[in-house]
Amino acid sequence: MTTINAHGGELINRLVTGQEREELLNLVPALPQIKVNTWAISDIDLIGVGAFSPLTGFFNEEDYKSVVENMRLANGMVWSLPITLGVEKEDTGRLEVGKQAVLVGEQDGIPYAIIQVESIYDVDQSYEAEKVFKTSDSEHPGVQKLYTKPSTYVGGSIKVLNRPQPEKFNDFYFDPVQTRALFEEKGWKTVCGFQTRNPVHRAHEYIQKSAMEIVDGLFLNPLVGETKSDDISADVRMKSYLVLLENYYPQNRVHLGVFPAAMRYAGPREAIFHAIVRKNYGCTHFIVGRDHAGVGDYYGTYEAQEIFSQFTKEEIGITPLFFEHSFFCKKCGNMASSKTCPHDKSEHLHLSGTKVRAMLREGNCPPPEFSRPEVAKVLIEGMSENLVQTN
Ligand code: ADX
Repeated sequence: MTTINAHGGELINRLVTGQEREELLNLVPALPQIKVNTWAISDIDLIGVGAFSPLTGFFNEEDYKSVVENMRLANGMVWSLPITLGVEKEDTGRLEVGKQAVLVGEQDGIPYAIIQVESIYDVDQSYEAEKVFKTSDSEHPGVQKLYTKPSTYVGGSIKVLNRPQPEKFNDFYFDPVQTRALFEEKGWKTVCGFQTRNPVHRAHEYIQKSAMEIVDGLFLNPLVGETKSDDISADVRMKSYLVLLENYYPQNRVHLGVFPAAMRYAGPREAIFHAIVRKNYGCTHFIVGRDHAGVGDYYGTYEAQEIFSQFTKEEIGITPLFFEHSFFCKKCGNMASSKTCPHDKSEHLHLSGTKVRAMLREGNCPPPEFSRPEVAKVLIEGMSENLVQTN
């Protein structure tokens, strides 16, 4: 069984049920409201189920400052991304430190959680962006998102009253308690987590299978929360993962479950975050390849790997598995990386995301050395149904 502890030692559970939930629900009408969008709702849920352990709520000012500056919570524990709740200035009026407020879905009016307000603070978002994203450029999709958030944050522990209901792929939602139990049931002592926001192409498959040679199981954990508009929709991606697993992976060595978080595109800092969260799901290992969670040219190819050296192994707890940029080499006749292939670059198959999208749009399969034909077919179908968003 996987014996890895959650980050901080204890898997957090902030979901309230039964009598306690009823009592809290009765308080709701009298509490000041904070409107929450889809992103905040997904954070609430991930805090609730312990995916963000040791967090019990949204950052108070102390943790915020400490994480932005040092990638550590105020208690010294490693944590790389601020998990914050932005509140419109006019809504802060009724809030009071030491009192409760209710977090209500801005679209559905559902009371998702009650927050015990610990601090209300104003931040400088361009400074936050510089520290977290290494740029304050509003063209960066993560920075852009940050700037749409109010710059007054409210911090405090939450209790979750209601959970968002997935519209699709219900069967692939597993909470950390469930994945931990599943890995144990399968007898996996070591489990490697794989983060992706893309279809699994041959390079992904290659690094996953290289990892599978040394661990008991692979947890294919695609992110299905908010992504930028030109990323392929989660719906199409899920279909592509299913055909890939059916045709090319041993069923008893892989578990597919979604990661319902929003993508931040914070490169190195997000790699640390992704690894720690996968530890909470019970993974012992985590793949970090080229430009993990990167976008455009904002981060160096291996910066998301290098950042791990700023912390001790014990502080991170999960073992990162670093992979070089991998590709198909025509001379080798197989997938390789600069670590294993002696041939000239001209022998390597390189296709940009833009080129692949253009091919798929025209109904053309990328070469099988780039993408499995079954996967390409799903992507082309998705494209023609207009499910694949294009820029
Ligand atoms: S990510 O934003 O979720 O990191 P993506 O889905 O493309 O994007 O990548 C998933 C994982 O595979 C990341 O760890 C990434 O670094 C790695 N990766 C993607 N393409 C390659 C490649 N050609 N060679 C090595 N690693 C890769």
